Amino acid sequence: MNLASRIEACRERVDRALASWLQPEPGEPARLNEALRYSVLGGGKRVRPLLVYTTGNALGVAAEALDGPACAVELIHAYSLVHDDLPAMDDDDLRRGRPTCHRAFDEATAILAGDALQVVAFRILSSDPAMTASAPQRLDMIRLLAEASGPRGMAGGQAIDLESAGRAITIDELETMHSMKTGALIRASVLLGALSYPQLTSAEFDALGRYADCVGLAFQIQDDILDIEGDEQLMGKSTGADAARAKPTYPSIAGLAAAKKKASLLHREAVSALEPLGNRAPGLAELSEFIVRRSR
Ligand code: IPE
Ligand code: IPE
Ligand code: MG
Ligand code: MG
Ligand code: MG
Repeated sequence: MNLASRIEACRERVDRALASWLQPEPGEPARLNEALRYSVLGGGKRVRPLLVYTTGNALGVAAEALDGPACAVELIHAYSLVHDDLPAMDDDDLRRGRPTCHRAFDEATAILAGDALQVVAFRILSSDPAMTASAPQRLDMIRLLAEASGPRGMAGGQAIDLESAGRAITIDELETMHSMKTGALIRASVLLGALSYPQLTSAEFDALGRYADCVGLAFQIQDDILDIEGDEQLMGKSTGADAARAKPTYPSIAGLAAAKKKASLLHREAVSALEPLGNRAPGLAELSEFIVRRSR
């Protein structure tokens, strides 16, 4: 299967699973459920689920056992976008080609939708009957995702992002911020796929972690690049937003050419990190390239 068909197959698969976890349940306020479904089921590239499936698949894990982790990480990501777009944060009106959640609903509903999406993710990891992971393995997964989303991961990175607006920061500080706000969840995606394989060795875990760290930083650098030269229509979100809010980005500090060079370098580093896995992970190498070459 080529990359485009694999992406499409993963998207269909995770969309089906997400829709089923977000079915309205008795006692759940209809408008809140509508906001959850609106924020999760309305598009998105599904890169994080793709990383979960591709990693698990490279290790021989059945797709059914990967649906739970793929949904969990995408739900955390969707929550982070709903909150990222709020007026108190990036104040954006457009997401995935549609009005942002707080625009389509209202701010309070968007805050609550984020809160709810976050915990549905952990509900899935703790209870999905299709996951083959043992109870201790599930706990490892829950801890991994909690750390990646928390104050030393995504939420912490977002706090640094807000503090940094309008300030001059160094490239090292920027890389730390990017690795936290975006890299941490990318890393969790790869490692949740890996932890679904009970025989994983620590050398394989470390190699996949190194791969994911490179891909995670490259992902946010490419996002910064696309904010400057991407096509608003294609991306489904506003461009020029970083400059408008004086957000330090890789291109704003080092220049566009250096940002592109860095993204390519990180892709090459990601591919070399996969060496200990032999030729078991060609799909991951391909995905890293897709991430730095993407135009949306
Ligand atoms: C956007 O993520 C926010 C970042 C972390 C850079 P994506 O580019 O993966 O957004 P969707 O899921 O495709 O909408
Ligand atoms: C968002 O970074 C990172 C998150 C944790 C959501 P951005 O603020 O650059 O993401 P976009 O460009 O709005 O998608
Ligand atoms: Mg932001
Ligand atoms: Mg934003
Ligand atoms: Mg951005």
